[in-house]
Amino acid sequence: MGEKQKIQITALGLFPYKGMNLIRGVHQVQHLDSLETFEIRDDDIVVVTYPRSGTTWTQYILSLLYHEDQMTEGSNKPIQELVLQQQTINKNIRPQGLREKGKVIYIARNPKDVAVSLFHLQNFTKVLKSEPDFNTFLNQFLKGEVLGGSWFDHVADWYAHKDEFDILSMTYEDMIKDTRGAIVRISNFLGKKLDDQTIDTIVDKSSFKNMKEDPQARRDKQHPAVFEQSGSFIRKGKVGDWKIMFTVAQSEGFDQIYMEKMKDLALEFDWKL
Ligand code: A3P
Repeated sequence: MGEKQKIQITALGLFPYKGMNLIRGVHQVQHLDSLETFEIRDDDIVVVTYPRSGTTWTQYILSLLYHEDQMTEGSNKPIQELVLQQQTINKNIRPQGLREKGKVIYIARNPKDVAVSLFHLQNFTKVLKSEPDFNTFLNQFLKGEVLGGSWFDHVADWYAHKDEFDILSMTYEDMIKDTRGAIVRISNFLGKKLDDQTIDTIVDKSSFKNMKEDPQARRDKQHPAVFEQSGSFIRKGKVGDWKIMFTVAQSEGFDQIYMEKMKDLALEFDWKL
């Protein structure tokens, strides 16, 4: 897709790109076009997630694992400068070299909590159209018409192809339930042996409370023009927040679509949908 080509914008203010819906002015077509042939090095680590699944949290843990001053002094640089993020990678936009080199950390999250978190983000950012009605938003989410495209396609595709990559797959729920264990799994996967005290420090520094207070962890503080004043990119950090948003009918309708689309994968996850 050339820059000069007329870009179609969806109801929520997004532009479709190879099966994803992205934000004009934030995601650059030129950059996206170059991703497939982007050169991957042996020591590259790519964090891949559908939006609102724990990207920033994982990036923050990696910044603590790889940047010593981050451990001692706290963040003095936005984590996006320390650890590059790649939420725009789906099956059509995946660097080809990732099959031969580099490591992938894939984080998935209960899609009902993702939908709620994304709904708040949609209304918190100034670069997308507000959608105050959750039911309307939920229907758009189920059809893949939201930021990031279809959650179902993203997760199903990465799980179907995970054997082709040097990959660590985890869920947000795993990370909440046993943060220490998740950090050990990440560091083992990356070939780093940590002593107990270092692990304790990483658990403490990457806690929800600490990250919420750290402006360098907060995209909204890094880009104040993009976000409303009220709200926080690091918002609630809970499992099961969907229960206060979904009606019974919405939940049942969601379960039906989930079972249809994820029938081959449903057992991989122990989400209480
Ligand atoms: P909520 O909106 O449910 O609170 P991403 O970084 O992929 O956009 O994901 C954002 C979600 O991760 C938000 O979920 C955010 O609050 C949560 N999150 C960020 N840091 C966290 C942490 N340290 N512990 C738990 N959840 C965290």
